[in-house]
Amino acid sequence: MRVAFVGKGGSGKTTLSALFSRHLARSGAPVLAIDGDINQHLAEALGGVEESAPPLGAHLPEIKDFLRGDNPRIPSAEAMIKTTPPGRGSRLLRPLGDDELHARHVGRAGGVPLMVTGEFDESDLGVACYHSKLGAVELYLGHLLDGPGEYVVVDMTAGADAFASGLFTRFDMTFLVAEPTRKGVSVYRQYRDHAEQFGIRIAVVGNKVTGEDDLLFLKEQVGDDLLTHLEQSPWVRAAEQGRTAPGPDALASLEPHNRHALGVLREAVDSHPRDWDRLHRHAVELHLRNVRAWADARTGEDLAGQVDPEYVPGPAAPA
Ligand SMILES: Nc1ncnc2c1ncn2[C@@H]1O[C@H](COP(=O)(O)OP(=O)(O)OP(=O)(O)O)[C@@H](O)[C@H]1O
Ligand SMILES: [Mg+2]
Repeated sequence: MRVAFVGKGGSGKTTLSALFSRHLARSGAPVLAIDGDINQHLAEALGGVEESAPPLGAHLPEIKDFLRGDNPRIPSAEAMIKTTPPGRGSRLLRPLGDDELHARHVGRAGGVPLMVTGEFDESDLGVACYHSKLGAVELYLGHLLDGPGEYVVVDMTAGADAFASGLFTRFDMTFLVAEPTRKGVSVYRQYRDHAEQFGIRIAVVGNKVTGEDDLLFLKEQVGDDLLTHLEQSPWVRAAEQGRTAPGPDALASLEPHNRHALGVLREAVDSHPRDWDRLHRHAVELHLRNVRAWADARTGEDLAGQVDPEYVPGPAAPA
């Protein structure tokens, strides 16, 4: 199951991505955290890097070559764009599987396996946009054969920017982190409208709630979309100051209310099984949009032909 954390800058996306990943890891569930933000802070929030690995964004051509496998509809890495869907011959990966991509790109932070997209660096200025780095995550998720009880948790860029790439259609659940302020809920409104259009599941998670008034405000503004909330947390502050132990077990001392909220998030993720057909339909739709908007012109090829009409990735996909 793939889970994204989005929201306004500073709302707590990274903090909640890290807490949720650690919560899952602590239960023994397989979990892979992905840092998909321009400023890469997830490793730190997880408790610090234990094993670093090269960023996905710096190896896009190799990743494309690996994922396209011998799919005859994708003759080269150059012809593969971030929305290119898998077809017969493509490589589908198991989460944390025994393959070249995971072997190279999965590091570890705070006891949790972690992949990173990479910082937006000097050499990108003026020539690339961060979305090309996020394209690696989009392709990865597009080729992932994950099942129930397996989790990929992505910390996303701030604000409605997360919608500028097709990545937002790749998740089973998108948690919108909102502080109890007017600005905090404004991103929610933007997101809700986009999400509706693509049939995407979102739920609002209140954060840094300090009392009844905060909670009432969120309930008033967000209504039934408010799934749960986390309170302002001395534990989180202590962690930021390096005063909690690293590793998932440290979560045992997280405030009971906040720990409970993490359980609610997990239940929400688990309560809706994946619909592979639907996920793939959206992926194809988005690919065709990109093809028409820019990709055919840029590559000089007919990329609509990359869609394998009889193929749907999933447990039943033809080899
Ligand atoms: N529930 C909480 N209790 C206490 N502090 C919190 C809580 N959630 C987040 N914070 C603090 O708020 C600050 C911003 O959090 P965080 O970095 O997770 O936000 P973000 O949405 O990822 O920000 P950015 O948009 O910069 O990536 C951090 O200092 C973090 O420790
Ligand atoms: Mg962040």
